[in-house]
Amino acid sequence: MTINKGAQFCAQPQFEINRALFDLKGKVAVVTGGSRGIGAAVCAGLAAFGADVAVLARDANTGNQTVEKVQAFGARGLFIATDVGDLSQCSRSIDRTVAEFGRVDILVNNAGIGFTSPAEAVTPEEWDYVMAVNLRGLFFMSQAAAKQMIAQGQGGRIINVASIFGIVGSELGASVYHASKGAVVNLTRALACEWAKHNILVNSIGPGFIVTDMTAAIQEQPVLADLLERRHALGRFGCPEECVGAVIFLSSRASTFVTGENLFVDGGYTAW
Ligand SMILES: NC(=O)c1ccc[n+]([C@@H]2O[C@H](COP(=O)([O-])OP(=O)(O)OC[C@H]3O[C@@H](n4cnc5c(N)ncnc54)[C@H](O)[C@@H]3O)[C@@H](O)[C@H]2O)c1
Repeated sequence: MTINKGAQFCAQPQFEINRALFDLKGKVAVVTGGSRGIGAAVCAGLAAFGADVAVLARDANTGNQTVEKVQAFGARGLFIATDVGDLSQCSRSIDRTVAEFGRVDILVNNAGIGFTSPAEAVTPEEWDYVMAVNLRGLFFMSQAAAKQMIAQGQGGRIINVASIFGIVGSELGASVYHASKGAVVNLTRALACEWAKHNILVNSIGPGFIVTDMTAAIQEQPVLADLLERRHALGRFGCPEECVGAVIFLSSRASTFVTGENLFVDGGYTAW
């Protein structure tokens, strides 16, 4: 009988079914924009499942609050001041993580900015600013992490926080944001294909509207908030904590055959 690569792979002891499927003990995660919202919840979630977490954020106060949440789970936490709009800081943060924790196994590219302006009024500077954070920063964080993962030779995980707005349009004046997130969804596929040979699995999550600072202005407008809530099959916005499970799944042994995928966490927004 011919033994193909899949059959050989499946024979490894790691595929024994047990409750450690989601265990991240011994893994080192890096999360951008970890000071609040989805990023802070993800940092705590990764720590709850055993990972040590480098919390990358611009603000030391809020960043260190997240570090405390990480440490409360018995994991190691480290704040690293990082503006992903500044490319030198991206690679420096990966180097700092390696200096402190010895390795990088998981990168969550969460940092992002919302931006609305009628498409006919957007300036080149506004376009560049949104793209610099949501797309360019995400790409160069991924590059810096992947170089480290390739050098380690044990694969890795990159999880990009995209959006439902990477797949559908809206009338909300968010064209630049839509463009940035659409690019993240397809960049995810491209990186997944390119880095598969290094067993670096690259996926994205696509949240619907989540109750964070990013949607605070919408939440204060009852008519608009109601309209947008009804676009989710579940009839409401989600909580940051509801994004955590998808990230744990994509970080863990539970998803060893998942790459290039965008996992919607959107209360059914894109289901109809
Ligand atoms: N809230 C939503 O409805 C929603 C929906 C879909 C996708 N998302 C995405 O989720 C991610 C997190 O957003 P959130 O909802 O938690 O909003 P948020 O505004 O609370 O958090 C965004 C985080 O990114 C950080 N950040 C922004 N610019 C940065 C930069 N240049 N360098 C480093 N960090 C930077 C912020 O400091 C903050 O920690 C973003 O990528 C966002 O686009 C949010």
